Amino acid sequence: MKKKISILVVDDDSAHRIMLKTLLETWGYAVFEADDGSTAFEKVKQKAFDLILMDIKMLKVSGIEALDMIKNFNPSIPVIIMTAYSSVETAVKALKKGAYDYITKPLDFDKLKITIKKAAEHAYLKTENQALKKRIAESFDHQNIIGKSEAMIKLMEAAAQIAYSEADVLITGESGTGKELIGNVIHYNGSRKNNPFIKINCAAIPETLLEAELFGYVKGSFTGAIKDKKGVFLLANRGAIFLDELGEMPLIMQAKLLRVIQERETTPIGGEKSYSVDVRIISATNKNLLSLIKKGEFREDLYYRLNVVEIKAPSLKKREGDIPLLTRHFLKTFNKKNKKSIKGITPEAMDMLIKYNWPGNVRELMNAIERGVVLSSGDYMDKSSFSWLNSGAGDERQTSNIQNNDKKNISLKEAEKRIIIKTLEACGDNKTKAAKLLRITRKTLNSKLNYKN
Ligand SMILES: Nc1ncnc2c1ncn2[C@@H]1O[C@H](COP(=O)(O)OP(=O)(O)OP(=O)(O)O)[C@@H](O)[C@H]1O
Ligand SMILES: [Mg+2]
Repeated sequence: MKKKISILVVDDDSAHRIMLKTLLETWGYAVFEADDGSTAFEKVKQKAFDLILMDIKMLKVSGIEALDMIKNFNPSIPVIIMTAYSSVETAVKALKKGAYDYITKPLDFDKLKITIKKAAEHAYLKTENQALKKRIAESFDHQNIIGKSEAMIKLMEAAAQIAYSEADVLITGESGTGKELIGNVIHYNGSRKNNPFIKINCAAIPETLLEAELFGYVKGSFTGAIKDKKGVFLLANRGAIFLDELGEMPLIMQAKLLRVIQERETTPIGGEKSYSVDVRIISATNKNLLSLIKKGEFREDLYYRLNVVEIKAPSLKKREGDIPLLTRHFLKTFNKKNKKSIKGITPEAMDMLIKYNWPGNVRELMNAIERGVVLSSGDYMDKSSFSWLNSGAGDERQTSNIQNNDKKNISLKEAEKRIIIKTLEACGDNKTKAAKLLRITRKTLNSKLNYKN
């Protein structure tokens, strides 16, 4: 059910106030009362009203004084002032002080209804917008995920949606596509963000240690267990666990993990007592779990438990349009790290980066830019800064594409895309400007950037 909009009616004339309260309640609002300016201010400090309807002429603390105090305390709350015809001047003064609108007495009820509706909508939109902006700012500021391609925008939208749910998530994608970054975004935008987020790499830890890490142990349960150790499931209670490289988890551990997930309880190794746990599991893998299942190397039941929602991180090749953006981002980072001041990259070198296959995805690009920054002595990174890329897999891929597809069509589209990317670069990534220069619409520009090979 939608929450009622709350209105504080401030008037020292009790009959008028009660009349207003009754009227507003019949219009479906939740109405609160205050009989003078200072009481109104006290109430505003205690409750976040959506709207205030306030008489200007009150004996103790006037509407103007109260408006000042309220606006100082919370500038975003809309205040509608009621005033007699004779004091319109004061009403204008109130507008200057930040009142949303004023309405003259005797009140025209139709007008009052419209004014209140508009003010309430305005307030609602404002808070919605702030929340939205905050959400976006959070995910982009803190996690630093770069990418404006359609694939990345879709991915971020999906991640934001999933973040708010409690569902377990499986993030799949090739190595270096940013799975861990996505895991961070999901956790730190969700309702568990203030609780622990503990990361475990299933490939980096030997089997016996992995069990001890996940479930903990009691003192004396094996040689070397000199004191009790809490497992990750307990430590991350009410928070989340990031199970990285899930595809590498040994089958025995998979069975134990499944038990914890099903029973929502964990028992430390060698312990008697079990503890109930409430943990969200975000896992990641660059393996194809379905084919591991076919080979008997991954449990199907565990797969379906952890894969309530799947997020696929696109390979860098599938979002070539992001390469210039990422390059600039990493250039900035590594200039700083290496105390260099390289200004940019030549168009030929950028072209090379765009053509390359990037089997190691963003991580490989990041390393390439770091190497480029270190190796370059001039103002700009050029082809020689990336000479080792020439022998890469990129060329092979180009050839196979041409063999498999209509040659003419591919090269034309490729050419178009290159021109667009270069123009975009020249315009500092301003799509509207680039589209104008190319005499195409922004929409066409976007679709041409996102075509898949
Ligand atoms: N969209 C992006 N914007 C900025 N940096 C990124 C992006 N994607 C990945 N990176 C960077 O690339 C590196 C690799 O990312 P990450 O570790 O998240 O990849 P991964 O998919 O978990 O890789 P692996 O499968 O090898 O573990 C990190 O340093 C990360 O910061
Ligand atoms: Mg990773």
